[in-house]
Amino acid sequence: MKISHLGIAVKDLASAETIFRKLLGDDNIHHETVADQKVRIASFQLGDAMIELTEPTSPDSPISKFLEKRGEGIHHLAFEVGDVNAELARLKGEGFQLLDEKSRAGSHGMQIAFLHPKSTNGVLVELCQLPSDGSDTSH
Ligand code: CO
Repeated sequence: MKISHLGIAVKDLASAETIFRKLLGDDNIHHETVADQKVRIASFQLGDAMIELTEPTSPDSPISKFLEKRGEGIHHLAFEVGDVNAELARLKGEGFQLLDEKSRAGSHGMQIAFLHPKSTNGVLVELCQLPSDGSDTSH
């Protein structure tokens, strides 16, 4: 596995973007709405990994619930894997609790799935598989 991205929950994408643009000294931002998760993201590429600022688009978005409970901050850590469904099966066999039994559509054309933070020391872990057809045109 390698690190794909770090997801950060924010209340206001525009103001968070301004801060991270200054912090990273990078104006090259990719924007995307991920309907399945009811979020809008702004992502910065840092070497092989990304930082994804994530703003909810609806009160029933998982990010809205996180913001209510915990406030803004680091939301999840995402690992890139070759085959997300095979990895889910392996981790289930190892006793990890899955939030997704099967992968679903994430940002950048990736297939993604989450593990329950209860089984990973309080860290919400996302697994992602890059699109095999190269359909990610964001970078
Ligand atoms: Co993510």
